[in-house]
Amino acid sequence: MAALEGNGRPALVTGASAGIGRELALVFAEHGFDVVLVARRKERLEALAQEVQGRFGVKAHVLAADLADPAAPRQIFDEMARQHIMIDALINNAGYTVPGFFRDTHWEEQKALIQVMVTAVAELCHLFGPGMAARRYGRIVNVASLAGHLPGAAGGTLYAASKAFVIKLSESLALENTDTNVHVTALCPGFTYSEFHDVAGNRAAMNKLPKFIWMTGDVVARQAYDAVMEGRPVIINGGINNIIALLARLLPQRLVHALMAKNQRNAKAKPRAA
Ligand SMILES: NC(=O)c1ccc[n+]([C@@H]2O[C@H](COP(=O)([O-])OP(=O)(O)OC[C@H]3O[C@@H](n4cnc5c(N)ncnc54)[C@H](OP(=O)(O)O)[C@@H]3O)[C@@H](O)[C@H]2O)c1
Repeated sequence: MAALEGNGRPALVTGASAGIGRELALVFAEHGFDVVLVARRKERLEALAQEVQGRFGVKAHVLAADLADPAAPRQIFDEMARQHIMIDALINNAGYTVPGFFRDTHWEEQKALIQVMVTAVAELCHLFGPGMAARRYGRIVNVASLAGHLPGAAGGTLYAASKAFVIKLSESLALENTDTNVHVTALCPGFTYSEFHDVAGNRAAMNKLPKFIWMTGDVVARQAYDAVMEGRPVIINGGINNIIALLARLLPQRLVHALMAKNQRNAKAKPRAA
């Protein structure tokens, strides 16, 4: 039987305790990658580690870390070095949104979001990328969003900005690595079933959206895997999401901004905690 692509190569997945990250870990393990599972909820990671070992016979390591801690990326890198685990695939997936208008939130919440979804993503690429280039094999999936292709929305203020950053970062890294066999892909899902909207506290509003615009994490993860193996710098999941992104690029910007203003699902101001 032909060896699987992963062939025991280690893939580190952030935000593997739920949603899309969990599915990405499963898909990489299915293709023969060992997995290093990172998130805050250790019990969930341990359960997933058992599952991937049982189902796919690969190794699974658990690393509990809070990526809002500026020291976390370096600690993760150092821990991998200490255990002699050479990371060949990096999946920067951990993420969430801070609901409410910018002015109604605490700076500490926004700062943490930037740390998790911007700084940690860039730093982990910066830490693990050189080793991949030197070994001439690397696969990096940076989970962005359809939101990164659309104008900024009211509410969840830094979300679209952080995802636009992830898309541009991934495009640049993909170009810088055309001769290293390191593939870098920005994954841009639209609405995807996960815990994201429970964490954001807007599940009831989300349940009113039509079923056809939702995708499952499993399909999103499989498309991500194929895209990074093919070396595609950006993938938008699903036909509808591709049409939305195309319209946002092609329609007159005044019209696009007017449409964004009409659709303010995220915009409910959240009372500022004391
Ligand atoms: N669901 C969607 O509709 C959608 C659409 C487009 C893009 N995305 C993106 O997809 C990615 C995954 O989101 P999801 O939908 O799968 O949401 P989810 O089910 O809520 O999962 C989020 C993951 O991120 C981890 N995480 C959050 N804060 C963290 C922190 N400070 N340190 C370490 N890990 C942290 C969580 O783990 P712990 O809580 O255990 O730490 C969890 O594993 C995010 O980047 C999100 O922006 C989602």
